[in-house]
Formats: sequence, C-alpha cells, structure tokens
Amino acid sequence: AAVTEHQAESATISGGLVESNHAGYTGGGFVNYDNASGAYVEFTVTAATAGPATLSFRYANGTTTNRPVSVTVNGSAGVGVAFPGTGAWSTWGTGSATASLAAGANRVRVTATTANGGPNLDRLTVDTGTTSAGRPA
Ligand code: GCU
Repeated sequence: AAVTEHQAESATISGGLVESNHAGYTGGGFVNYDNASGAYVEFTVTAATAGPATLSFRYANGTTTNRPVSVTVNGSAGVGVAFPGTGAWSTWGTGSATASLAAGANRVRVTATTANGGPNLDRLTVDTGTTSAGRPA
C-alpha cells in the first residue's frame, strides 16, 4: 500500500507551537495546539489517484478529557476524530479516520473543536490501500 508519513511540525500551523519537551515524538518535535477551538494543523498530502484513505494521527493527551478534532480534506465536510487521554504527555496513541482524497495535492486540516484545543500532535500517516502507482495493493 502507499503509506506516507507527514510530521506535524512541518505542516502549516494556525494556533499552535512546535515543541519537543515531552519524549517519544517522531521527527523533530510535535505541535502543541493552543487551548482554543478553531486552532488547526494543515497537512499537504499528495495522492496518486482519487479514492479513500485511512488517516492515522499519532498524538498525546496527558489530561483525562477528550480533545476532539474535525478533519477536513480540501474544505470538505468535517469528520470527527476523538483524542482521549493517553495517560501522560509522553505516552502516544493513535486516532484514525477515513477520508476521500483527490488525485494530486490535498489539504488535510485538523481543527480543534473544543476550548481545550487539540492534543499534542506528532504526525499523520496516510494509507491509500494502493501501490505508489495507484494500483490496488
Ligand atoms: C501541558 C503540556 C503541553 C500541553 C498542554 C495542554 O502544558 O506540557 O504539552 O500541550 O498541557 O493542555 O494542551
């Protein structure tokens, strides 16, 4: 399958900071969302062909309160993803959603929907279930 990884610290950030003060992240750090609804991280994801993809977000939430987000692709209707507590800010989990990608570049925006903001977001993994040439895996 065509699996690509996208580090949050390399994405476009509106309402958040790149930090590295909690262990276990991949790449150079993670995004600490502002504690505000509407804060977002937007990834550019390129797909060989149009079709569904599994979006898996690696995150940490050291609180006991869910930090839900809405995920949109190219301004589509949002799909909700829950990011419940992981036990510690240095303990990382995964939240997933299915979305339709267009062929070419896609804007995958991950927007906090509560006043607590999003979780600490490490990266997005995209699996299109196809080969890199767009054929079924
Ligand atoms: C703590 C933690 C941050 C986290 C923040 C939050 O300050 O150190 O990494 O982002 O809580 O509640 O969002």
